[in-house]
Amino acid sequence: MYINWSDNVFSKSDKTNRTELDTAKQLNEHIPEHVAIIMDGNGRWAQKRHLPRVAGHREGMNTVKKITMSANNLGVKVLTLYAFSTENWKRPSSEVNFLMRLPGDSFDTFVPDLIKANVRVNVMGYIDQLPDYTQKAVKNAIANTAQCTGMVLNFALNYGGRAELVTAVRKIAQQVSDHKLNSDEITDETIDENLMTASLKPNADPDLLIRTSGEERISNFLLWQIAYSELVFTDVLWPDFSDQTLKDCIYQYQQRNRRFGGLK
Ligand code: FPP
Repeated sequence: MYINWSDNVFSKSDKTNRTELDTAKQLNEHIPEHVAIIMDGNGRWAQKRHLPRVAGHREGMNTVKKITMSANNLGVKVLTLYAFSTENWKRPSSEVNFLMRLPGDSFDTFVPDLIKANVRVNVMGYIDQLPDYTQKAVKNAIANTAQCTGMVLNFALNYGGRAELVTAVRKIAQQVSDHKLNSDEITDETIDENLMTASLKPNADPDLLIRTSGEERISNFLLWQIAYSELVFTDVLWPDFSDQTLKDCIYQYQQRNRRFGGLK
């Protein structure tokens, strides 16, 4: 029996060559440890239904809950979700306000489920620039899941890759001017240690980066960390992204030959 592959991730020939058994085997054997997702298409999902854009974000939050559990069940170790970028402040204030209220509105029911699933919340981004109620909600989620030892659910919130690099360069420059570091001692590791993903080590860099909604760009996400990530783009809008779409994306990742600049 052939599995029902989503049309927009795979070509027809891919689909006809795989069985459910193959998929189960693959899914057990080679799961990306760090999956990062650019959750795009909430607005278009709402527009297609003649709903306000924020209805797409509300549904997008439901997808966050479902996909967190799917990723955890598959054995992913870090799931990084791009929830709000440093550039998203340019959106209408009503939409920004809705997004800022989402953690407070949804974490009350989500966090108990995360604790049951042993999932720990981490947040990376310029948190101190967020409204107090958003900060409170995310800090509570971090504190309430601090003892969890399973998958890390890492929200990128008020995050931007260039801003992160600027902050890292400033920190390193300060160490040099304080004579704690010589400039010729600066290595890849020095930069890694000064990025917001440092605490995710040894899984700081995504193995797989997924972007939904058919857009094929990086949008200032994890610029340093995705140097060798496998990129998978799917036409599925984020509110429609399912457990099966995640498995399809992981299957595509599993077909790649990662060489990290070497030969295999
Ligand atoms: C992009 O879709 C999506 C966002 C900017 C927000 C994503 C946020 C969530 C899914 C909820 C989780 C959020 C928090 C704060 C925990 P878009 O609005 O750009 O869609 P469009 O391209 O179709 O307009």
